[in-house]
Amino acid sequence: MAKRVALAYSGGLDTSVAVRWLQEEYGVEVVAVAVDVGQGGESFDEILARAKAAGAVEAVVVDAREELARDFCIPAIKANARYEGKYPLVSSLSRPVIVRHLVAQAKAFGCDAVAHGCTGKGNDQVRFEVGTRALAPEMEILAPARVWGMSREECVAYAAQWNIPIEQTKEKIYSIDENLWGRAIECGRIEDPWHTTKLEPFTLTKVTSTDPVELIIGFNQGVPVSIDGVEMSPAALIDELNKRAGATGFGRLDMVENRRVGIKSREVYECPAALALIAAHSDLEDLCLERDVAHEKLRLEPRWAELVYDGMWFSPLKQALDAFIAETQRFVTGEVRMSFEAPGLMRIDGRRSPVGLYDYELATYDAADTFRHQDAEGFVRIWGLGISTWAQRHGGVDR
Ligand code: ARG
Repeated sequence: MAKRVALAYSGGLDTSVAVRWLQEEYGVEVVAVAVDVGQGGESFDEILARAKAAGAVEAVVVDAREELARDFCIPAIKANARYEGKYPLVSSLSRPVIVRHLVAQAKAFGCDAVAHGCTGKGNDQVRFEVGTRALAPEMEILAPARVWGMSREECVAYAAQWNIPIEQTKEKIYSIDENLWGRAIECGRIEDPWHTTKLEPFTLTKVTSTDPVELIIGFNQGVPVSIDGVEMSPAALIDELNKRAGATGFGRLDMVENRRVGIKSREVYECPAALALIAAHSDLEDLCLERDVAHEKLRLEPRWAELVYDGMWFSPLKQALDAFIAETQRFVTGEVRMSFEAPGLMRIDGRRSPVGLYDYELATYDAADTFRHQDAEGFVRIWGLGISTWAQRHGGVDR
């Protein structure tokens, strides 16, 4: 049985209750590990103070914003990653970076276990546990919220009983998970898939301006590096784009998705930067990737997204796909022009690349044309040779 546990601590009700509950029920010492992934909200000083008040022997915060952007969001852009063709993996990308720090802090503080506050119904437990088993197979994993069987009201009462200072928020309507890649909203009335979200209190995609926004994103080997020629760190660039594109209302998703644990879930997301960057990146690839590479990559992209969604970030298949994707990105360099118009319209207006494969002299119908028209005749005859042989033998059939 574990003696000292590193708990992934958010400062919310569940993980605050978990700090106390783990001590009371399992007799363990709890080290609270808060990871800053750009969730905003309360200050980390307050969060750490609450962990201590709940009884944590140690409470630390790690700033992982640039790391999330560089090591997780950038690979997702290169993979044009959208789970089930839609969701750009907002929560799915933050869990492995949290796991990385949770495991590192667990080792630094001499813990023999890690813990998380996820329930048994979601994907996040899968990401925490499979990730931990990849990075530290020797660590025990504790999941108090899967064991305690307390309702939300009972958790509030438990916190009060132990004098844990929980923010007395009004009726908590939704479960919201936020980081710099976006915002995931679940629960409450949106659990009815028919309920319209038109009037929900959006934050990242609240229309604050009706002026159209035009901008140019610069890419270097698949990595977005600048907006309008100004170079920025990955996190700063994502942040800026969330603000500028989000202000026009772009970046909202309303969908029903398949969780790993077999449950269909109605989800609402706000992720302007993620959707804009993936759209821009994939558009630039259209210009820069050779046809077979482009088509093969299109086949593998959904698999990459599915693996990451399913908690397999640190898996060998995901690493192998990363190697393929890295090879494809060598010449994905150039610029994409885009515009955004309220409410929520995004357009790609142009793209250019010093290493693009677009050849004007091959493409043009003007006098500059260098395409060898005479070669086409033989090419097309041989391309269709099997079909014409078949049709001569059996008679052409139009059906
Ligand atoms: N359904 C999304 C996912 O699995 C979002 C999960 C949000 N997590 C949360 N604890 N609210 O990636």
